[in-house]
Amino acid sequence: MKILVLHGPNLNLLGTREPEIYGSMTLGNINTQLLELGKGFGAELKCCQSNHEGALIDALQDAQTWADGVVFNPGGYTHTSVALRDAIAALKIPVIEVHLSNVYAREEFRHVSLISGVCKGKITGFGWRSYTLALRALAELLEDINPK
Ligand code: DQA
Repeated sequence: MKILVLHGPNLNLLGTREPEIYGSMTLGNINTQLLELGKGFGAELKCCQSNHEGALIDALQDAQTWADGVVFNPGGYTHTSVALRDAIAALKIPVIEVHLSNVYAREEFRHVSLISGVCKGKITGFGWRSYTLALRALAELLEDINPK
């Protein structure tokens, strides 16, 4: 099982960026947790981050060539990017949308996600655990699609 974990803009600043909202875990810490968790169920993970919309689209398109699924936190692009939505819609592998914060308990503009409608599901509000929950959900889903 091969999984892309993709982090969008400003998530490289986790740990110091608004810790009261996003927590004190760094992106490196989160990726380490995910790699450990993935190892437990035999998943191979590639973790990437970019602040650039086009680079995120390239990573999604590339994932189609090697990955079985994607865990994706699009950061602020969640609320603005038709191009990311189109990139996800074009994929034949499942994408799980992730947010550390509960976007529905925040400003109204964060209540709108342009990508939710083309994702398999969405996890929001559990801090760094949103990622581990998403990875577990994706692994179970992939197991259902391709039982051992
Ligand atoms: C976020 C929520 C977005 O609204 C915000 O722009 C982010 C992070 C989250 O993980 O909670 O950059 O995706």
